[in-house]
Amino acid sequence: MAASDIATKSRAFTDIRGVPVSYADNRAIEGLEEAIEMSLSFRGDAIARIDEVLKEFPDFIMGWLFKAGWLTQTMETRIYKLMISALSEVEKRLKHANDREIGHYEAVRAWVNGDFFAAVQKWEAVLFKYPKDLLAMELVHYTDVLLGDIAGQRDVVARALTLWDESVPGYEFVLGFYAFGLEENRDFSHAEELARQALAIRPDHPYAVHAVSHVMEMRGRQTGGIRFMGERANQWGTSNFANHLWWHTALYHLDLEQYDRVYDIFDNHLDSRRKDGNKYEELDAAALLWRINLVGQSSGDRWTHLADKWEPAAQDTLYAFNDVHAMLTFVSDDRTEAQQKLLSANERYLESASDANVAMSREIGLPFCLAMRDFKAERYRECVERLLPVRYMTHRLGGSYAQRDIIGWTLLEAAIRAGRFDLAIALANERTALKPTSAQNWRALARAFQGLGDTSNANRATAKAQSLILA
Ligand SMILES: [Fe+2]
Repeated sequence: MAASDIATKSRAFTDIRGVPVSYADNRAIEGLEEAIEMSLSFRGDAIARIDEVLKEFPDFIMGWLFKAGWLTQTMETRIYKLMISALSEVEKRLKHANDREIGHYEAVRAWVNGDFFAAVQKWEAVLFKYPKDLLAMELVHYTDVLLGDIAGQRDVVARALTLWDESVPGYEFVLGFYAFGLEENRDFSHAEELARQALAIRPDHPYAVHAVSHVMEMRGRQTGGIRFMGERANQWGTSNFANHLWWHTALYHLDLEQYDRVYDIFDNHLDSRRKDGNKYEELDAAALLWRINLVGQSSGDRWTHLADKWEPAAQDTLYAFNDVHAMLTFVSDDRTEAQQKLLSANERYLESASDANVAMSREIGLPFCLAMRDFKAERYRECVERLLPVRYMTHRLGGSYAQRDIIGWTLLEAAIRAGRFDLAIALANERTALKPTSAQNWRALARAFQGLGDTSNANRATAKAQSLILA
C-alpha cells in the first residue's frame, strides 16, 4: 500500500480534529464537518446538509448522531418524530459504532426519554475522553443554556481549553462558547476579551457577537452596544441568529427610551408575519413586546399575530421556557381559553410526568405563568406574591440573565402598581446597583419614591434617568 493511501485511510477514521469516526469515508466526514460548521456559524441549513450526506452514505452513524443531536436543540414537540427516527437509524447500526458514537447515542437516547440532565452527562463523558469533540461541546454548552446550568455553560469549555489553540479547526467557536459562559458567570472583562478574539479569527461569528452583546447589556453599555451591533449588522444580520441579535439591539434602545427604534426593529426584524419564524424568534418577539408594555408603551396590534403562532403549542409542556413565552402572548392578547389550556396542560403534566422539565415548570414556569395572568388582570398584589419567592431561582427556567430579567422587571412593576412602594424601592435599588446606567431602573425608583410621597428622592432618581438618556 502506498504511503498516500495509508494517510488517506488513517484520516478516514478521524475528523479534522483527530476525533475518531467509525465510518471510513472522507466525503461523508467532510459533509458532516460542513453541517457542524453550519450549526456553529448559524449559516445555512445544517439538517438539510446532513440529509444530503446521509442520502449518499446511509450507514454513516456519526451523521445520524449529528442529526439527532442537533434536533434536540429545537425544543419543539413537532421535531421529536424526526429526532426519534434519526436515533432509530443509529440503533440499526449500533454494533459498528465506536465508543465516542455510543456516548452520543446514549446522550440523545436520554434526551428522548426526557432526562436532559443525563444527556448532558453522557455528552460530557464523551468530552472527557475526546476534548476536541466540537459537536459534543456545542451540545453540552447549548443544553446548559437551555437548562439554566450557569457554571456548566462555562466549565464545559474550561475543562478542555488547554488542548485547543488556533491550529485546531473550530477554535473560534470554542472561544465563543467560553465567552458566553464567562459572561453568564459575570466575568465580563474576560468574556469580552475572548469574544473579540473569536471575532478576530472569524468576523462573521454570530455567537461571539452575541457574547459581546450580553456583556454590553449586563454592564449597561447601551450606546456602545448600539454602535458595536450596528458596525457588524451587515454580517450577523444575514445569519440564522439575526432575530435574537436584533432583540439585543432593541433592548439597548429600550433602555435609552428610543422607542421609535424599538418599534422599527420589531416591525422589520422580529415580526414573523412575513415569514415562518421558529420558536426562538417568537420567544424574542414576545419578550420584547412585554417589555414595551412594561414601560407603558403601546404594542398596537402586534400581540395578535404572535398569539396565533403560539396557540398550537399551548399544550406542549415540553419546555417551561417556551410555555412562559406562550403565556405572555395569551395574556397580552386576552385569550382566556388558550391561557386555560396551557395551565390545565401544565397541571396534568406536573401530576403525571417525571422528566427534567417537571422541576423547571413547577418551580418557575407555572408560578410565572400565573403571575403574568395576575399582572394582566391588574391583580398586582397576587403577582408580587407569586414572583417574590422565586426570583432568585429563575435560572432554573433556562435562558440567559438578560432573557430572565423580564421576571424581575415584571415583579418590580407589579410592586409599584400594587402600591407596595417600600418593596418597589428595595427592588429598584437592587437593579440600579447592578446596572447603574439603566435609565429605566432609575425611572422605576423615581416612581416608587413618588408613591411614598418622597418627592426629593423621586426628583433625584428622575434627574439620574434623564442624564442617562441625554448622555
Ligand atoms: Fe442572548
